[in-house]
Amino acid sequence: MSANSEANKPPQIVLVVAAADNDVIGADGKLPWHLRSDLRHFRALTMGKPVVMGRKTYLSIGRPLPGRTNVVVSRDPAFAAPGLLVAPTLHTALSAARGDALRRGSDIMVIGGAEIFAQLLSAAARLELTRVHLRPQGDVLLPTIEWSQWQETARRDLPQGPHDDAPFTVTSYRRIAQQ
Ligand SMILES: NC(=O)c1ccc[n+]([C@@H]2O[C@H](COP(=O)([O-])OP(=O)(O)OC[C@H]3O[C@@H](n4cnc5c(N)ncnc54)[C@H](OP(=O)(O)O)[C@@H]3O)[C@@H](O)[C@H]2O)c1
Repeated sequence: MSANSEANKPPQIVLVVAAADNDVIGADGKLPWHLRSDLRHFRALTMGKPVVMGRKTYLSIGRPLPGRTNVVVSRDPAFAAPGLLVAPTLHTALSAARGDALRRGSDIMVIGGAEIFAQLLSAAARLELTRVHLRPQGDVLLPTIEWSQWQETARRDLPQGPHDDAPFTVTSYRRIAQQ
């Protein structure tokens, strides 16, 4: 069975992001919260698919994500690590991810950070947003999103689990087609 959102359609670019209520998504090169339940949600959304990320996000994760094709964008020609496809431009990264997604019958999951989200927002067809109900300090913010261009397709409020810093809400959006 195809893992693509619409069988036989070209892979879509999907942004996957967790943002606090104050739009903070990162602090000191890390996530500013511990949220095991959202990590499970992230794993389910991305497993078996290509994931595209910036070098800083890769370093914050610290290892290739298992079961996924890890495409890391960096302008540093010396940057490399086992288990990664390193791309010098976003265009190259998306080409590699698209080839992989076509083979897998999946979409392309863009997993951050803010620099990458900002550059790929206009190319994205879907957005998977976790709203973390906290207002932490941070130095990396969710880029400005023009919400009138997005339609909510699903929403779930999740209670704070035993290994979560806060309750959170996961919402799926799709881009509203231009007339
Ligand atoms: N809450 C969330 O959902 C979430 C998700 C991901 C990350 N984060 C957090 O966000 C922070 C990292 O985000 P960030 O915005 O600082 O960094 P980032 O987007 O992860 O990575 C930025 C790096 O990507 C490379 N890059 C960016 N645009 C490029 C392009 N057009 N062509 C080639 N390479 C390009 C550059 O690497 P080089 O410098 O090597 O050239 C750049 O320094 C961390 O705190 C992380 O924990 C949060």
